[in-house]
Amino acid sequence: MRVMEIRDQWSVDNIVLAERAEPVPGPTQILLRMRAASLNYRDHVMVRRGYGNRSGSLPLVPLSDGVGEVVAAGAAVTRFRVGDRACPTMFQDWVSGPFKDGHWRSQLGGPRDGVMQELMAVEEQAAVRVPDFLTDLEAAALPCAAVTAWSAIVAQNPVKAGDVVLVQGTGGVSLFALQFAKMQGARVIALSSSDERLDRARALGADHLVNYRAVPEWGRAVRELTNGTGADHVVEVGGAGTLAQSVRAVRGGGTISLIGVLGGAAGEFSLPHVVTQNIRLQGVTVGNRDMFEDMLRAMEQHRMRPVIDGTVYVFTEVAAAIRDFPDGGHVGKVCVSFAE
Ligand SMILES: NC(=O)c1ccc[n+]([C@@H]2O[C@H](COP(=O)([O-])OP(=O)(O)OC[C@H]3O[C@@H](n4cnc5c(N)ncnc54)[C@H](OP(=O)(O)O)[C@@H]3O)[C@@H](O)[C@H]2O)c1
Repeated sequence: MRVMEIRDQWSVDNIVLAERAEPVPGPTQILLRMRAASLNYRDHVMVRRGYGNRSGSLPLVPLSDGVGEVVAAGAAVTRFRVGDRACPTMFQDWVSGPFKDGHWRSQLGGPRDGVMQELMAVEEQAAVRVPDFLTDLEAAALPCAAVTAWSAIVAQNPVKAGDVVLVQGTGGVSLFALQFAKMQGARVIALSSSDERLDRARALGADHLVNYRAVPEWGRAVRELTNGTGADHVVEVGGAGTLAQSVRAVRGGGTISLIGVLGGAAGEFSLPHVVTQNIRLQGVTVGNRDMFEDMLRAMEQHRMRPVIDGTVYVFTEVAAAIRDFPDGGHVGKVCVSFAE
């Protein structure tokens, strides 16, 4: 079977097409014929071995997120039937309960081989069945970014109807967070560097739009939009670049979900303000399989569809997809189709 793999040296320039033996599913495994994949910011960091020892070793099949059709199942499999579509979970060993330190070892797309392979055998407990209403590209968009947003908005610190939620930018995680916040009945303030992309956020239900380039002090703007109170929940993807403003934007007793560090990993923000305002800083790292299944049930109920960027790559173009990702100006999820 064909795979795309990073070979010899950690670099996007060393992703090549290769042949590997077809996997044979064990008794508790399903065999997936992969149909589509999607990119996350993490994949761009991973190809440079940006996670150090946690990146794994070469050759490595990149990308954590994808969907496939079940073409064979081991004798003991009960959760799937041949013909179902399934997404492997990003953390293969994290089925339920709280995150434990060792779970990172089971991450697809580094340190474990990822989804850029035509056939993939996974434990049935480490995959979820995809509802029929989602296309292959939409399903492939879900395992990392959507589950992360679900964890922040619903699973860890549930947003309530009437809450105000702030989302930063129009990338994968933020648009899922916007959609889940609307599903929960929240009022959403969306930030973006582009007025055109803010229009996309409005179409998804954002109630207030702020261009963070035009309004660098957007923490104050958020307070003005909330009659001086602040947002109940901030979905933080900018990290050091945005945390100081997020601390200004959140209300006393509110939550900041720390998800990304797009604007840098270390920076200054007012610790006394966090303490005296009783602000909760909640780290979020994707989520477990149970959360993924809860999320799919809610998406099916609400017919919620992921936002897929207009540029879709094909299997052999995955290096270009990863190379373009950080400055591609995408909206929502960048996907790879395995169809010829
Ligand atoms: N903790 C986890 O489990 C987890 C899971 C997934 C992702 N992440 C992290 O979350 C971050 C976002 O990931 P992603 O896949 O959603 O990336 P993405 O699709 O590339 O989205 C990035 C978007 O963020 C916005 N942005 C960038 N700098 C910003 C700033 N200073 N202020 C406000 N918005 C800003 C931009 O939106 P505009 O173009 O609209 O301005 C940009 O398009 C990354 O750091 C990623 O590593 C963490």
